[in-house]
Amino acid sequence: MDITHIEHLGIAVKSIEASLPYYEGVLGLKCYNIEVVEDQKVKTAFFKVGQTKIELLEPTSEDSTIAKFIEKKGEGIHHIAFAVPSVQDALDEVASKGVQLIDKAPRAGAEGLSIAFLHPKSTCGVLTELCM
Ligand code: CO
Repeated sequence: MDITHIEHLGIAVKSIEASLPYYEGVLGLKCYNIEVVEDQKVKTAFFKVGQTKIELLEPTSEDSTIAKFIEKKGEGIHHIAFAVPSVQDALDEVASKGVQLIDKAPRAGAEGLSIAFLHPKSTCGVLTELCM
């Protein structure tokens, strides 16, 4: 696979508002976009760290996968997202190598990205997103 860089790290938080004093006030990052992704039942907040972004994920509903994640594991790193030139080509390649896919085809994510997730059972425990 032809990964160009880490596009973003997804971090689950209970509240974006309550997290801003740390990310902005302590780390000195600037939130440049807040966006609700309806079909994933999350509100996202973005910060740039060089070429990589931090994506805070706040659940907008109790049945959101992020709500379930926080319930089980608490707040913290939820996924890593690698940038690839073609999400579909990358999916086909990893599937041919036996990786279990959560998304068999790319779908729309925040920031107009095309995204797909690989199952953590096949990725050494790290929920992995491919995006472009
Ligand atoms: Co993501």
